[in-house]
Amino acid sequence: MIEPYVYGDYIAIKALENGVTVIGLTRGKDTKLHHTEKLDRGEVIVAQFTEHTAAIKVRGKAVVYTKFGSIETSD
Ligand code: TRP
Repeated sequence: MIEPYVYGDYIAIKALENGVTVIGLTRGKDTKLHHTEKLDRGEVIVAQFTEHTAAIKVRGKAVVYTKFGSIETSD
């Protein structure tokens, strides 16, 4: 069992253009895409790392807010 302190963090993503894609990648030996979410400009998603989600990939122009600060994607 993975302890909740290993995951559990939330991030927020704000789309700066239409069609931003947020992709959840699986935890464990194999890294697979398990969920894809599309955001339009101005939409925000609050996402959590879980036992199933170890990484989150953002494609398109967006700002990602994490406990480390905010990061804007670039071309
Ligand atoms: N399956 C990988 C793992 O559990 C997923 C992963 C973790 C990952 N951190 C990552 C994938 C960073 C890409 C980048 O370790």
